Amino acid sequence: MAGEKNVETTGLLGWIDRRFPLTSMVKEHLSEYYAPKNFNFWYFFGSLAMLVLVIQIVTGIFLVMHYKPDAQLAFDSVEYIMREVPGGWFIRYMHSTGASMFFVVVYLHMTRALIYGSYRKPRELVWIFGVGIFLALMAEAFMGYLLPWGQMSYWGAQVIVNLFAAVPLIGPDLAIWIRGDYVVSDATLNRFFSLHVIAIPLVLLGLVVAHIIALHEVGSNNPDGIDIKEKKDKYGRPLDGIPFHPYYTVHDILGVAGFLIVFMAIVFFAPEMGGYFLEFNNFLPADPLKTPPHIAPVWYFTPFYSMLRATTDQFTWVMAAGAVVAALVLFLKCKGAAKLIVPVILIALAVSFRIIDAKFWGVVVMGGAVVLLFFLPWLDYSPVRSIRYRPDWHKWVYGIFFVNFLILGYLGTQAPTDVFNLMSQIGTVIYLAFFFLMPVWSRMGTFKPVPDRVVYHAH
Ligand code: HEM
Repeated sequence: MAGEKNVETTGLLGWIDRRFPLTSMVKEHLSEYYAPKNFNFWYFFGSLAMLVLVIQIVTGIFLVMHYKPDAQLAFDSVEYIMREVPGGWFIRYMHSTGASMFFVVVYLHMTRALIYGSYRKPRELVWIFGVGIFLALMAEAFMGYLLPWGQMSYWGAQVIVNLFAAVPLIGPDLAIWIRGDYVVSDATLNRFFSLHVIAIPLVLLGLVVAHIIALHEVGSNNPDGIDIKEKKDKYGRPLDGIPFHPYYTVHDILGVAGFLIVFMAIVFFAPEMGGYFLEFNNFLPADPLKTPPHIAPVWYFTPFYSMLRATTDQFTWVMAAGAVVAALVLFLKCKGAAKLIVPVILIALAVSFRIIDAKFWGVVVMGGAVVLLFFLPWLDYSPVRSIRYRPDWHKWVYGIFFVNFLILGYLGTQAPTDVFNLMSQIGTVIYLAFFFLMPVWSRMGTFKPVPDRVVYHAH
C-alpha cells in the first residue's frame, strides 16, 4: 500500500505500485538482495544460464516460423532456413550452438555448486530444482535433436527410445507408446516437436523461477561456504553482503561479454565444432533403411552414454559384488530392524543384477547416475561446505571425479573397443563410488579452521 516501505507513492511508478508490487520485487530480488561480496568467476554461470535460456527461446521462436514438423519436409525446411531465409543460418547456428553452450554453462554451474558445497543445508531445494532443470534440459536437447530429421537425429532417437524396451514386462509397449509407432516416424517427430517447443520449455521456465525463488529465500552461498546472514549490521544487513544491483549486475556484464565473444566465435567460425556440436552425419537426410556405422549422441550426453555401454553382462558381476559388500558392511553397521531389512534388499538386488537382462541395468545405471545427484545434500557429511577448508586430499578426490567424467565423455563419442569398454567400466565404478562412498570419505581427514568472515581480496 502507498506510504509503506518498499513502495513508491508518486508518478507512474506510484500508480503501478498501488496495483502491482514492482518496486518491492525489484528491491527484494535486486537492489536489496544482499549477496556475499566474495563471488568469483564461478558465479558468472547462473546468469549466463539465464542468458542462454533467453537466446534459445528467442531463436527457437524464429526457427518455428519456418520449420516444418513433418517427416517429408523437416530436413528440407532446415536447409531452406539455412540457405533462403534472410539471417536464417545465423538464427539456426545460434540455436544449435546455444544447445551445446547451455550444457557447458550448466556443467560449470554444477561444478561450482559441488566444490563450494552450495547444495548443502539450507540450499537443498535450490539444488533439487537445479537437478530437475538438468533433467528437463536433457529431455529438451534430446527431442530438439530429432527435429532436423538427419541421419543422427533419426538413429540417435531410435537407439535411445529402444532403451525403454529393456524395461521388464512393459518395455516393448512403453517404447511403442513413446514413439507412437513401431519405429521412429512422422508420429514421433510430431510429438517431439510439440514437447520441444512448448511442454518442456514451460517446465524449464517454471523450474528456473522456483530455483531463483528458493535461492533468494535462503541467500547465496559463496566460495568460503560461510553463512553471511550470521553477522549483520544494525540495519539487519549482512556485514559481508553487497546489494546484487548494481554490484553483481555490473560484475555479470563482464561474464556476459566474455561469453558472447566465445559464443559468437563458435557461431561464425566453427558452428559444427569439429562434429561435436553438429554431427557430420546429420547433414544427410534421415534414411530408415540405412543405419550409420557409428551412432553416438551429442557430447553432453556421452558421459552417461558411456555408463550405459559399460553395463555389460560381465559388469553386472561387479555390480552384484558391490551390492553384496554393501550388504555385509550395513549388516555390521545398522541397528534394529534395518540390520536385517537393508542387507536383505541389497542381496535381492545383487541377485536381480544377474537374472534381469544387462541392457535393462545399463538403462538403470545411466538414469541412476543423474538421479543420484538429487541425493547429494544427504550424502555429504563434511563438517565444512567449501573445498577451501577441506583436507587437501579431498581436492584430489574431486579432481579425479571431474577428469573421470571428461574421460567418460570422450569414450562415449568413440566407437567401442575392448580397451575403451574396460576404461568405461572403470570410469563408471569411479563415478558411482564417488557418490556411494561420499558418506564415508567426506568426513575423513583434517579440516581447516573456517574463518568468521568471508575472505575477500579486491582486484
Ligand atoms: C537453466 C538452467 C539454470 C539457471 C538459469 C540457473 C540459474 C541460477 C542463478 C541465476 C543462480 C544465482 C547465481 C549463481 O549462483 O550463479 C543459481 C544458483 C544456484 N544454482 Fe542454478 N541455474 C540453472 C541450473 C542449475 C543446475 C542444473 C543446478 C544443479 C544441478 C543448479 C544449482 C544451483 C545452486 C546449488 C545454486 C546456489 C549457488 C550458491 O549460492 O553458491 N543450477 N542458479
